[in-house]
Amino acid sequence: MVKNIILIGFMGSGKSMIARELGKRLKRGVISTDDLAEAKEGQSIHEIFKFKGEAYFRTLERDIIKEVSLRQGVIIDCGGGAVLCQENLSHLKNNGIVFYLQATPEVIYERIKNEGHRPLLKVPDPLGCIKELYHQRLPLYNQADFTIDANSVSIEGPVVEILKRV
Ligand code: S3P
Repeated sequence: MVKNIILIGFMGSGKSMIARELGKRLKRGVISTDDLAEAKEGQSIHEIFKFKGEAYFRTLERDIIKEVSLRQGVIIDCGGGAVLCQENLSHLKNNGIVFYLQATPEVIYERIKNEGHRPLLKVPDPLGCIKELYHQRLPLYNQADFTIDANSVSIEGPVVEILKRV
């Protein structure tokens, strides 16, 4: 059984870019749980949060993760909040190696401050919000099998580190 490669981490930690690069190098399929949520609902993540609410999105995300965890040999790029549900991590770990892409709140803020599509960060103090969520979620991200330093601008370092371990 070929294990899946699972990428978890905060928004802006580079999960999507790194997943695509791993897919290219390993010639494996890449699945984004956010893209699947958008395709299923026919709405952007922003619209799902706005019109249906976060709880609805989390249920959708949970169902998607349960489904994609049954796949084999794929790379799964998880939304930043996927770890909030313990059941998600259990499903993902069943047949996958979980990598936490770690970047500091300051690095994350610099990367995403000019992007408008992240509903959780549409607040007056986005850096404060990132710090708070980051500290809440750290123990959850730390349940990954491996932590990968994703603070650098280049994705080459994290990609190489992940390839060494799979
Ligand atoms: C979220 C992260 C987003 C997306 C949604 C909620 C979060 O995914 O799932 O906006 O709770 O951290 P990315 O990490 O891919 O931006």
